[in-house]
Amino acid sequence: MQTNDTLKTIAERFSCRGYNASPVEREKLDAIARAAMSSPSAINLQPWRLVVITDAELIAQMDEAGMQLLRDTGEDEMYKRFMERGGKLFYNAPVMFLILKQHIASAELDCGIVSENIALAASSLGLGNVICGMARLPFECPKGEYFKEKVGFGNDGWEFGMGVLVGYGLVSKEPHAPDMSKVSYV
Ligand SMILES: Cc1cc2nc3c(=O)[nH]c(=O)nc-3n(C[C@H](O)[C@H](O)[C@H](O)COP(=O)(O)O)c2cc1C
Repeated sequence: MQTNDTLKTIAERFSCRGYNASPVEREKLDAIARAAMSSPSAINLQPWRLVVITDAELIAQMDEAGMQLLRDTGEDEMYKRFMERGGKLFYNAPVMFLILKQHIASAELDCGIVSENIALAASSLGLGNVICGMARLPFECPKGEYFKEKVGFGNDGWEFGMGVLVGYGLVSKEPHAPDMSKVSYV
């Protein structure tokens, strides 16, 4: 089978759900941000902004607010799942790459591509990572406006796109096996 460093990074990536407190070097954050901004987008609109959150106290506050929202809105199954995983929505990750998007139809897919570029760049640098849709919760809770102001949503209609948590992993996981039965050649 053909392989190279890129294919190896793709094959070995997994969603990491436990981090140690070590900060991530600025050079690595810069490299990941550059990979994110190298993403393709429909007619090259690049309908995104990227906020690299490294403020541990802010991430902890967002985590707590998100967990409280899950609890208060009766999302019992989801709440239970996160409690079983250690009670942390963001797994103590020291970094959150927050992708903001413009309100246009193609932005959702574009943000998905940015997310995967971040995940693969982080993996290639030996960093754990997980794409995190739950990162939207802090912005939907009663303190949402406070968090939006803290991370700089601004007043120009920017919306939550996606979050990607990054840090040095405490846990490892086998990558999921690619299901090649879903592939056909015509
Ligand atoms: C759009 C999207 C949102 C996700 N949101 C979360 C999340 O909020 N929390 C989480 O732990 N994992 C989240 N994941 C990770 C998936 O659960 C994970 O990719 C899937 O279980 C396959 O596992 P793998 O990434 O290790 O191959 C998300 C993945 C995607 C693509």
